[in-house]
Amino acid sequence: MPTLEIHQFPCLKDNYGVLVHEAEAGLTASIDAPDADAVKAELAKKGWQLTHILVTHHHADHTAGIPALKAEQDCIVIGPKAEADRIPVIDRAVGEGDTIELGNTRIKVLDTPGHTLGHISYWIPEETVAFVGDTLFAMGCGRVLEGDHEMMWQSLKKISALPPETEIYCGHEYTLANAQFGLTIEPDNDALKERAQSVERARAAGKPTLPTKLSDELRTNVFLRPHVTAIRKHLKTRFEADWRVFGEIRERKNKA
Ligand SMILES: [Fe+2]
Repeated sequence: MPTLEIHQFPCLKDNYGVLVHEAEAGLTASIDAPDADAVKAELAKKGWQLTHILVTHHHADHTAGIPALKAEQDCIVIGPKAEADRIPVIDRAVGEGDTIELGNTRIKVLDTPGHTLGHISYWIPEETVAFVGDTLFAMGCGRVLEGDHEMMWQSLKKISALPPETEIYCGHEYTLANAQFGLTIEPDNDALKERAQSVERARAAGKPTLPTKLSDELRTNVFLRPHVTAIRKHLKTRFEADWRVFGEIRERKNKA
């Protein structure tokens, strides 16, 4: 089994950059490229050479660093087929079912539209790790900017169905605000209350709250829990379908 080293670092206002290093083959992938200087500084710190950029979606805070990195480093840019024309450089366009090889590591592509129409996530089954961009956040989810609630819900369901021990890397540090919002939707969830407190402590100490574990999200992320009776009762929702309840929770977060 290949051994990967995954290095996460904060950049821009509240983004995370992530480098995935495959030591055996000497390959390094940057998950998105929020900021070329920050990515270069972290590569230098680790003594790694950038060989791949894996793009989740077209937003500038995930792609702005691509041209400068591509100009200086001999790297291949892989990104979503459906957004290839909105991303500065794409060498290989991918979608659901495609596999990317990083040395001996196989990275699977999942279509996870909703935040943007072509948003994709990257999943490494052998390492039980996934990079979900702006689809899922710790105790939150991305804004549904281009798709609709049903589409976003299907994407979240797809991520929820990965092995529960999956480590999830997300595009942003929004955890504290998400925890506070989550408590307004499911105030009696003890796991959520506990997690909110530990997140508060972590942020007060300047520590990241990501990556997160899928099993923790399933217990504490209200956006993944529209089926839960306590949430439905609390919202006094008349909806039957999970995606509609999800939509109601998302709408409330937009106004929070
Ligand atoms: Fe985004």
